[in-house]
Amino acid sequence: MAIRNIVTEGDPILGKPCRRVEKFDARLHQLIDDMRETLADAQGAGLAAPQVGVLRQICVVDAVEGDGPVELVNPEILYEEGEQTGPEGCLSFPDQWGLVTRPMRVTVRAQDRYGQWFQMDGEELCARCFCHEIDHLHGAVFLQKMSRRLTTEEVESGSWAEGD
Ligand code: NI
Repeated sequence: MAIRNIVTEGDPILGKPCRRVEKFDARLHQLIDDMRETLADAQGAGLAAPQVGVLRQICVVDAVEGDGPVELVNPEILYEEGEQTGPEGCLSFPDQWGLVTRPMRVTVRAQDRYGQWFQMDGEELCARCFCHEIDHLHGAVFLQKMSRRLTTEEVESGSWAEGD
């Protein structure tokens, strides 16, 4: 495994749609292993393949306490319900925060690293991460979805919730 470089704001790859994964081979497994290691090293909640320079529909989400990261290949949101509004950031936009409204619950359909289809439900932070990472695979980033920008102080103190 290896830690890959995370591309940041200004790299055009972050605005491009990803192609579907067709081959579930050793090269894919290496990429996913590297993405897991890169995500753990960066202490993030999720990472999408374009963030490491690969335009393929792959993301890793690590947003459920006690569970390991979830690997999603060719994911799509099947169902969404409710609403949540909260701060959101991204490893490709360090020290930037936005107030983003997302569904409270989603059901995602995806393939695993061997090509097997599965479905998974996510709530709260997990639902937010699924939406954020799947957006990356379509070339969209959270700055395009935020209702307003937040300062680091607003996020850390929780004061973003006041006066809304
Ligand atoms: Ni992101």
